[in-house]
Amino acid sequence: MLKRWIPALLLAGIWLAPAAHAEEADLEEGRIVAFTCLGCHGIPFHTNVFPTFHVPRIKGQTEGYIRASLHAYRDGTRRHGTMQAQAHTLSDEDIRNVAAWFAAQGGNR
Ligand code: HEC
Repeated sequence: MLKRWIPALLLAGIWLAPAAHAEEADLEEGRIVAFTCLGCHGIPFHTNVFPTFHVPRIKGQTEGYIRASLHAYRDGTRRHGTMQAQAHTLSDEDIRNVAAWFAAQGGNR
């Protein structure tokens, strides 16, 4: 009787494992997503190269703030052409991962 349940339990394990994992930020994935962002957000003096404009420092910013900002840009409740375009390319998972990665970088740059 129990034997009949084993494949079902294994299947359930396969389904549940990624779901549980998705709740946790993956810093390695975040680092990959952040690669594009650093083109603007990783530059010394916090300005873009050309055309020159100010870019806020987000390394070491809190995870919650980064996450909320990205959702706001994506939803259009916070308006900024460049960042809205950036945020539109991100999934919920990307936002979670990249926010965790930036938050983990410390505020010393
Ligand atoms: C082309 C340059 C550029 C790129 C690429 C870029 N950003 Fe931005 N980002 C900006 C600018 C400029 C602002 C300021 C926008 C504003 O005033 O609302 C900003 C603002 C932000 C803010 C809000 C900061 C604050 O202090 O309120 C966050 C968070 C952010 N960006 C995250 C990201 C992430 C994550 C990525 C990569 C997916 C990214 N940005 C890619 C230029 C860029």
